[in-house]
This record gives sequence, C-alpha cells and structure tokens, in this order.
Amino acid sequence: MSLPVMKLPTKALVLGGANGMLGRAMVSALREAGVDTLAASSADVDYFDADDLDDFLDEHEPDCLVNAVAYTQVDQAEDQPEEAYRLNASLPALLGVAAEERGLRLVHFSTDFVFDGKKGAPYLPTDEPNPLSVYGASKLAGEQSLQALDLPGLLVLRTAWLFGPGKTNFVRRILELAAERKELKVVADQFGSPTLTTDLARLTVALLKNGATGLLHAVNSGQASWHELAAEAVRLAGLDCRVLPIPTSGYPTRAVRPANSVLDMKDTVPLAGYTPRHWREALVEYMESFPTVTV
Ligand SMILES: NC(=O)c1ccc[n+]([C@@H]2O[C@H](COP(=O)([O-])OP(=O)(O)OC[C@H]3O[C@@H](n4cnc5c(N)ncnc54)[C@H](OP(=O)(O)O)[C@@H]3O)[C@@H](O)[C@H]2O)c1
Repeated sequence: MSLPVMKLPTKALVLGGANGMLGRAMVSALREAGVDTLAASSADVDYFDADDLDDFLDEHEPDCLVNAVAYTQVDQAEDQPEEAYRLNASLPALLGVAAEERGLRLVHFSTDFVFDGKKGAPYLPTDEPNPLSVYGASKLAGEQSLQALDLPGLLVLRTAWLFGPGKTNFVRRILELAAERKELKVVADQFGSPTLTTDLARLTVALLKNGATGLLHAVNSGQASWHELAAEAVRLAGLDCRVLPIPTSGYPTRAVRPANSVLDMKDTVPLAGYTPRHWREALVEYMESFPTVTV
C-alpha cells in the first residue's frame, strides 16, 4: 500500500527515542534525513495519561509519531503479562487513537515472535501469526489494535533479532562472555533475521519518504541461527573462544521461541527502493564503529 504523500514528515516525535536501542537510532536517522525530530521518554510525558499526552502533542505539534516504546524482556514477560500487554498492546492503541484524531502518521514496531516458526520458509506479512509467548501475543495484540483503526498513515514494521549501539543486546552480551571464557554454547536450531538498529532506522526513513503504509517486514538480508550470529561476532572480534552449537533443549528459557522466524522482505524492498545489506556486513560495521563492545 502507499500513500499519495511521497515525502518525509516535517516534525517527528519518537517515543522511546531518548533511551531505547531502536528509538535512538530512529532519532539519528530522522535527523540525518533533515526531519525536525524530538526524542521523548516517559520522563517527558506519561503516555498513559490522556491529558498529559494531549498537552505534549499540542505543545510539539508533530506530524508523525514513531513508537519505539515496548516491553522487550521476552522471558520476563511470561511472569509480567499485564505489564507486557500495557506497553505492547494498550499503548499502541492509545497512540493510534491520538494519531487518528490529529491526522498524524504513525510508525509502530512489532516482532518476528508473532509467528510460531512452523512454516519452514521465510514469513510474509500475510502469513498467519500464532505467537508462542506472552511477549509475541502482546505485540500481536498491539498490531491488531492499530489495524482496527482508520489510520491511512499507519506503518507497522515487524523486525527481529536487533543489535546496535547504545544498549546491551545479544551480540554485545556474547562478546562480553567470549572475552571471559574459553568456550560458549549457543542455540543452533532457531533461525531468524539479525538486524542492525541503524540499518532498520534508515530503512524506516526510506519507507516513510516513499509513503509506504500498512504491515511490512523490516530486517537486514540473510538469515542465521543464534549460533551463527554469535560465532561470526566472536570471529570478527578475534576472541579466543570456541562457540559450540547446542539444541534449544540444551538452553531452556521461560518463554518459547519460534524455531524459524526469518522474515521475508519481498513486499518491503520495492517500497523502500533498495535491498538492505546482509546482516554479516552490518555486523562488521557494528563491530568497527563501536569497538568498546569487543571488550
Ligand atoms: N530487541 C529486539 O531484538 C527486537 C526484536 C524484534 C522486535 N523488536 C521491537 O523493536 C522495538 C524497539 O525495541 P528495542 O530493543 O529498541 O527496545 P528497548 O531498547 O528495550 O527500548 C524500549 C523502550 O521502551 C521504553 N519503556 C520500557 N518500559 C517502559 C515503561 N514502563 N514506561 C515507559 N517507557 C518504557 C524504554 O524506556 P526506558 O529505557 O526509559 O525505560 C525504551 O525507550 C520494540 O517494539 C520491540 O518490540 C525488538
């Protein structure tokens, strides 16, 4: 789907832009593209207080909201479903209503964990979701609450396996562990789409610029298991640590994760106007630009 408006927003408000891993990348990418961009956090506005949110939007008058706020602790969500749903389902719904009332564009991020992983091929946006975890179910509820509204400027981007500057993430954690140990065991039978936050942010800006709307997948090219991603990061860092493959059963977690959540980009690429680079290239940039992660 595409809007007749083929232009960037004039003023963007990024919720979660002050502290979030993706939020910060979104603020930088929008500013680089020349968009007047405000980074907001819960210290600036109580998102759940309708009057406070109204006043905040009146004060700043954005024409685009970017929601990078989420409850992202996948295992912890199993024990805190109310909080996960509050942030991942109720908040998008509130923002959707505000965007509808004010005629704003709204960008919202969702996840590959809406899928059950049984497809045996990369997932398209049209594939049936069937989340295995509270986190996945709460994010799906967020998508659905937005899709139920009449929002012509809505862009929902499902992304996956994020790594990037500014906050801890799987790659960074692996490098920290690999610096301390001679051997690491990493799950090799779950496959996904590793994605650099700064690449995702640039892709999002391209999609906004081209007037893309609707539900799309947004990840780097290629696919990997957690083991492949970890092994490549350790290799690039030149660390003396063996990364051994183990099955999911060897690393029990509170939340069940899909065995395959690779996201298909065929609908997104024509709207973006380019194919995002392979995650291996993105990982090289991450490691080169942020050498502190190599410990
Ligand atoms: N990380 C991944 O691998 C991954 C994979 C697939 C999809 N996604 C999606 O991508 C988006 C961005 O993820 P991310 O990894 O960048 O998230 P993140 O770094 O965990 O940031 C989440 C943001 O939400 C805010 N937040 C959390 N709890 C809050 C609360 N109770 N009240 C107000 N704000 C709160 C945080 O602010 P404070 O830091 O100030 O609390 C932070 O700005 C999310 O929609 C996520 O579901 C992420």
